[in-house]
Amino acid sequence: MITPETIDKIMDAARVEEVVGEFVNLKKRGVNLIGLCPFHNEKTPSFNVNPARGIYKCFGCGKGGNAVNFLMEHEHYTYPEALRYLANKYGIEIDEEKPSPEQQQAMDEKESLYNLSAFAQKYFEETLHHTEEGKAIGLTYLKERGFPLETIKKFGLGYALNEWDAFTMHAKKNGYKKEFLLKTSLSKERDQQLYDSFRGRVIFPIHNLSGRVLGFGARILTSEKNKPKYINTAESDIYHKSKVLYGLYFAKSAVSRLDNCYLVEGYTDVISLHQAGIENVIASSGTSLTTDQIKLIKRYTSNITLLFDGDPAGIKAAFRGIDMILEEGMNVRLVLFPDGEDPDSYARKYRPVEVKEFIEGNALDFISFKTNLLLGETKNDPIRKAGLIKEIAQTISLIPEPIARTLYIQQCSELMEIDERLLVAEVNKLRRQKFTRDQKSGSSQEIPEPPPEYVEKQQPVQVTNGHQEKEVIRMLLHHGDKTIEFEGTDELGKTVNIAVKVMDFVVDDFNDDQLGFDNAACQAIFNIFASHRQKDSLPHEQEFFNHPEEAVRQLAIDLLSSPYTLSHNWEIRHRIFVKTEEETLKTSLLEVIYAFKLRRLEKMIGENQEKLKEAREEEEITRLLEADRQFKMKRSLFAKELSRIVTR
Ligand code: CTP
Ligand code: MN
Repeated sequence: MITPETIDKIMDAARVEEVVGEFVNLKKRGVNLIGLCPFHNEKTPSFNVNPARGIYKCFGCGKGGNAVNFLMEHEHYTYPEALRYLANKYGIEIDEEKPSPEQQQAMDEKESLYNLSAFAQKYFEETLHHTEEGKAIGLTYLKERGFPLETIKKFGLGYALNEWDAFTMHAKKNGYKKEFLLKTSLSKERDQQLYDSFRGRVIFPIHNLSGRVLGFGARILTSEKNKPKYINTAESDIYHKSKVLYGLYFAKSAVSRLDNCYLVEGYTDVISLHQAGIENVIASSGTSLTTDQIKLIKRYTSNITLLFDGDPAGIKAAFRGIDMILEEGMNVRLVLFPDGEDPDSYARKYRPVEVKEFIEGNALDFISFKTNLLLGETKNDPIRKAGLIKEIAQTISLIPEPIARTLYIQQCSELMEIDERLLVAEVNKLRRQKFTRDQKSGSSQEIPEPPPEYVEKQQPVQVTNGHQEKEVIRMLLHHGDKTIEFEGTDELGKTVNIAVKVMDFVVDDFNDDQLGFDNAACQAIFNIFASHRQKDSLPHEQEFFNHPEEAVRQLAIDLLSSPYTLSHNWEIRHRIFVKTEEETLKTSLLEVIYAFKLRRLEKMIGENQEKLKEAREEEEITRLLEADRQFKMKRSLFAKELSRIVTR
């Protein structure tokens, strides 16, 4: 809880060129400084630092922001961590606001869970290395699996004695309370007796991003059929399995350096690949991949390679993963291991170079992957081919970025030797269907269904759809200063092209229709644009990055700092990007605005109909019915406009 005054002081003191200069070799070029971008691989510098404005910007990958953003992006600091770093660097004392009693209690409670987890990790590790049972059973097992001591220590692996309550007693003796033993699910209770959850198992600690232990996976060592192979930490205030990725702490710097993340299924796969010198690897262990996990990876790279078992279950998981990753606007590639092998067993059978070669040589993009798998030998069977094209079009239609969609459509049409226009039509049809479905269900990718075990704890699911709102803001932030052209008539009735600034167009349009945003951060950003519209000036990115409200800053950074990249194909991307962006800006903008309005109308229709159900007075009923008619007329108008735009 750093006070706003302190934040101002820090922001005033921070020199972007000094902060960036600690990590990037900068050279003077006019009033600016340039260097090689630390966020993507490049040979000629396109990373610009502008000391006067206090910002940096890479013209290769599009990343940009101020000193704080740089630290968050480069060092993966949280916002407060970045501020503390700067305060320290510039000798500014941080005066902190006292948290409220409730905040304090929540913090204390989480802290207790972390402390106990750290204590348990140490205990299990010591048990592994320093007890007879640990050495004879646990350590022997791990060594037989080919994990050398160094690796065992790096991952903090441990062992839980095969006793009823050895750990629980030890923890209690050290003053850890029953409440937290149960909340971390390290202990369980029966007949008012506490006992250990993990007994006679090897322990894989799970770390959060800063390396603190927040949970465990525990593998059985016997082959008893009626017992689960793994027991994992249950949901708690610090452990949400849908948001945890095993190994991310150890992998994150390699992931951002190599700009790619290998995703495997199990704990042992992660460890064995590390062993083989492949460090940009993590596992979704214990759950099938979730959107939250993908978003977590997106902080470090927009490229994911799935390394899955080639059995039917693995293939099914891969298909699901492909769609989810593409929907997040990221790039996905796949490697299937020979049937029956997983990355762990493969890494044990072959030498590290062979493992690397296998992965690099067998990585396929999703179109080739699906083609290879579904088409097989019967490449000339037209019916199967049509089915496959449909299947691929389905996946392409999930990609949010029009440019990326275009690229994949081109690739697919070349590979399958079909007319590109046919494929475009198919993808558009599917997008329209998906759009209608989303409208009907009011669902969006933004608000995934909570897993069942979450439902009680979570806030009520939002009914409004934040997705369209954010798209409007995204357009303003990225393209507000560009111009689009409309056809109009001059005083003499002659057709002329009228150029309008995107931000002016949006602000006026929204003000005319008296439209607002449900999301407060979206509204705040819109308001900034609106006030600049009045002054006929342009907002500066700093205004958003330094906004007093965290939610606003975050939204601006999120929307501005993750441009879509097809990093495997820079040349093509660049060429097509430039061309396509200009051509599609207007249509994209209209698409976004109509989608927003349509969504809003749907909501108004729903509310109106609720009122109709309640209404008793003749007059009121007539009024509401008329409103209903008007809304629906508008809706069909908008829907028609929108489908015209989407399919163009
Ligand atoms: N898993 C789990 N509970 C189970 C089985 C599996 O949580 N009962 C999770 C674990 O995170 C495991 C991953 O799913 O790491 C993959 O499962 P599997 O391939 O069966 O295990 P491996 O990790 O490969 O273990 P091993 O190689 O030791 O058999
Ligand atoms: Mn395995």
